Amino acid sequence: MTNTTILILGGKGKTGRHVTERLQARGVQTRLASRSSARRFDWYDEDTWEPVTTGIDTAYMAPPVDPPGMMRAERFIRQAAANGLRRLVLLSGRGVGSPGREFEVYEKGLELENAVKDSGLDWTIVRPAWFMQNFSEDFFYDSVMAGELRVSAGDGAEPWIDTEDIAEVMVAALLDPKHIGETYSLSGPRTLTMTEVASELTAAIGRPIRYVELEPEEHVAELVGYGAPREVAESLRDLLAVIRNHRSEYLSDGVRQVLGREPRDFADWARRTARTGAWSA
Ligand SMILES: NC(=O)c1ccc[n+]([C@@H]2O[C@H](COP(=O)([O-])OP(=O)(O)OC[C@H]3O[C@@H](n4cnc5c(N)ncnc54)[C@H](OP(=O)(O)O)[C@@H]3O)[C@@H](O)[C@H]2O)c1
Repeated sequence: MTNTTILILGGKGKTGRHVTERLQARGVQTRLASRSSARRFDWYDEDTWEPVTTGIDTAYMAPPVDPPGMMRAERFIRQAAANGLRRLVLLSGRGVGSPGREFEVYEKGLELENAVKDSGLDWTIVRPAWFMQNFSEDFFYDSVMAGELRVSAGDGAEPWIDTEDIAEVMVAALLDPKHIGETYSLSGPRTLTMTEVASELTAAIGRPIRYVELEPEEHVAELVGYGAPREVAESLRDLLAVIRNHRSEYLSDGVRQVLGREPRDFADWARRTARTGAWSA
């Protein structure tokens, strides 16, 4: 229990929602701020920035995924530190800063992490693998519903992680000062290719789902055709390149380090999620 109110940026998202639920269950006050929350906050409207950090000393941040948005997040951090913020837990991405990450989205991700470290704030950085919830709530949901995972991931594998595991790590980081100055990389317990993901989803949902491998530019064109902003579609293409190039086929033990237990498995997550009706036709 703490008397502090924790600011949650991205509190309605795939991770932020679970961070908020867990903090509230422990009696911690939270201040949600996003475009649709009572306390309006928009990365693209700087007039909304200062009011959300006023009176706040601890924040959880899920930054935008595209490079221009990340640069805005860097500016926000500097402004928030000047406005009294003292502690920040950042949702970053696994592999940011590793050799061979030649894409702008990783370069900007590293710049954002460095801005956090240089901000004078007490920080914790959490770098998760790709989320399982992308298949139930985000990029890949429509593909799952259509029975075809149309993705440019080649035959590379990824150790998908449950955002509930990420949220538990975030809550530990937000509440326990022993995590200050630490960077944690998190993954699920095993790597799965898109073909293996399709097979797990087929078993859990009870409908056939197959992987249709797209070329990267074909994938961008499809996403833009469905209404995704080009910058976001290109960021997704570049993030997927790391899977396609087999550079993400390793496990990270951040969940064990912080929580002292193993992360949840994809098959268990898929069965549990199917039972909630997430993929009901
Ligand atoms: N997906 C993955 O596999 C993966 C893996 C590693 C790291 N990441 C990182 O995770 C972060 C995304 O976190 P998430 O997936 O938990 O979030 P998310 O599900 O994408 O949710 C986005 C949240 O941000 C808010 N938001 C969207 N646009 C906004 C804007 N212009 N201004 C203010 N708030 C805005 C949304 O609420 P409103 O709609 O109300 O504004 C929502 O609460 C990204 O930085 C990404 O790089 C993702």
